[in-house]
Amino acid sequence: MPAELICFEEGCRARFPIAEVIYNCPRCGGLLEVAYPAPPAPPAELKRLWRERRMSNAPLDQSGVWRYREIIPFLESFHRVVTLREGHTPLLDAPRAAAYAGLDALAFKHQGFNPTGSFKDNGMTCGVAQALRLGMPRVACVSTGNTSASMAAYASAAGLHPIVFIPHGNISYGKLAQALEYGARTLQVEANFDQILALVRTLAERLGIYLLNSINPFRIEGQKTIIVEMLDQRDWNPPDWIVLPGGNLGNTAAFGKALRELHAQGFIAKVPRLAVIQAAGAAPFYDLVRAPADGFRAVPHPDTLATAIKIGDPVSWPKAMRAVACSGGVVEKVTEQEIADAKAIIGQCGIGCEPASAATLAGIRKLTASRLMPHDACVVAVLTGNLLKDPDYIYRYHTGKLEAPDGTAIHSHYGNQPTVVPNDPAAIAEVLRN
Ligand code: F0G
Repeated sequence: MPAELICFEEGCRARFPIAEVIYNCPRCGGLLEVAYPAPPAPPAELKRLWRERRMSNAPLDQSGVWRYREIIPFLESFHRVVTLREGHTPLLDAPRAAAYAGLDALAFKHQGFNPTGSFKDNGMTCGVAQALRLGMPRVACVSTGNTSASMAAYASAAGLHPIVFIPHGNISYGKLAQALEYGARTLQVEANFDQILALVRTLAERLGIYLLNSINPFRIEGQKTIIVEMLDQRDWNPPDWIVLPGGNLGNTAAFGKALRELHAQGFIAKVPRLAVIQAAGAAPFYDLVRAPADGFRAVPHPDTLATAIKIGDPVSWPKAMRAVACSGGVVEKVTEQEIADAKAIIGQCGIGCEPASAATLAGIRKLTASRLMPHDACVVAVLTGNLLKDPDYIYRYHTGKLEAPDGTAIHSHYGNQPTVVPNDPAAIAEVLRN
């Protein structure tokens, strides 16, 4: 059986050829996912092969996504894959962050080390490979910034034409700059992320443009390798918890699928619990998991300074719901102040990240305080974006000028104010005396 697209809805499960250009089930409208036959070799053999590939200079083996190609076998041939050597992101111990969050130990899987500075690269190399296979010359996405940066880079590297739609005035300059520099046609739409996604979905169909948002199931396949690589780095010992920020919930969906498949295929003996953390001003998934009987309700005007996760109507919520349920997971929400302080602590570890990523540490702090997460739990938190993505936020925090979207001042509890000094050695020596 070759790889196929399959409807995610339990009551439908319709199957479609892998090379059909569809994003939702044509029968019931449900989300789609990629289904595969069993892996070509037993887990122990594949684990050995994946380790051996770390010694190789072949481009595919140097990719932290394609090195694990046996678990994402949706292509018939790999000769047109474009890799910027994505993945290979470190797992970093962070004792200071652990102490802040009430844990004995904590490791960050830092996706900000990717070529364009976020976890989107893991998925984008797969999405662009599928666009090439389908012969779609133009690709598009709506983005809070990181998807557009990543898509622009991979599409341009592949000789495709990237078209980026972004909410005007609502993404950081670092990310906008990347889309421009990587050569994307960039449209700044005067609407929010959710509104633009609805718009782009109709436009993509009408204009024959391939959509590379996380509704695209091939993006999800690539993002599965974040989990595979992390487990490989831990010698296949799963942690107790994996913590990640939630926005459009594509990553939560990818992590859930990865863990389900790896467990079913015998790569891991237990499934870690997922903890998804949302910003309080954009937390529809938190609301859903708290009160499932009420059904999913979009947040019409999401707001947070963590613009990466400023999303009120996440498309992948059904998949994310399953990911949380299957892993015995939880969803938490955190305030602007909590995100800002947690971010400064991650910086003090010498690690750093963008605001959305810091929601993880803020969330862990709340989960340990409520004793849902014990202090001796083995926890891996995923930092999704690089510190340099949003320097404006950082400068404002450290200089006491950061304000929440509602105008409330954010306190610089861990601020590090720069000092202006005259060009005078005596005066500088005086400043540095203590
Ligand atoms: N962290 C960062 C840094 C992000 O850029 C995003 C999403 C998320 C977390 C949330 O991930 O959507 O899979 O739940 N950014 C998207 C974008 C929406 O357009 O770049 P998610």
